[in-house]
Amino acid sequence: MDFFLDTADVNEVKELVDTGLINGITTNPTLIAKSGRAFKDVIIEMCELIDGPVSAEVAALDYETMLVEGKKLADLHERVAVKVPLTPAGLRVCKELSDDGIMVNVTLCFSPLQALLAAKAGATFISPFVGRMDDIGHDGMDLITDIREIYENYVDLETCILAASIRHPLHVLQAAKAGADIATIPPKVLHQLYHHPMTDRGIDAFVKDWASTGQTI
Ligand code: E4P
Repeated sequence: MDFFLDTADVNEVKELVDTGLINGITTNPTLIAKSGRAFKDVIIEMCELIDGPVSAEVAALDYETMLVEGKKLADLHERVAVKVPLTPAGLRVCKELSDDGIMVNVTLCFSPLQALLAAKAGATFISPFVGRMDDIGHDGMDLITDIREIYENYVDLETCILAASIRHPLHVLQAAKAGADIATIPPKVLHQLYHHPMTDRGIDAFVKDWASTGQTI
């Protein structure tokens, strides 16, 4: 399972890139607004930091403008994955960009049938938003399970399932068990994945016992 970082904060990426665990980045307009920085600068800097796809989202909703924006974003760097919303216009743009060899991340997916449409449109990634489904009283992880089942039925569908709207470590565990190809994880959640009280307790004991031997390595 690949891990993407869900952030538009370049410093957070710099801090975590050396873990060797980060395979890509996702951003969205909300994260860009939160960063307070120029969108294109952030995307280019991210692309130079990470050896993997960096999702950059279009702003327009109509087909013509979205296509122009998508091409401009793809021109920023070869690692840009153009992020389009799951709408008729978005899927039309997805098909065109994919046919041109550009990576496309179809975002705001809330149903397995939407994911089937995105795959048929040639999406590189489909982003089902598990946390936002949980927010409205559904089990968001059912989305991942259903999409996996559908995609497995058709070997010609090559779209990667990118579990998005991940809010806590349990989402990462469930997404992995459900067969998501990728989870896009907020930095705070990635840090949480490392920690276990039994690991801390074990380290404390080993450090103390090693010290008592008086040896060095
Ligand atoms: C990633 O591509 C999404 O934009 C992001 O995971 C959304 O997460 P949120 O629902 O916590 O805003």
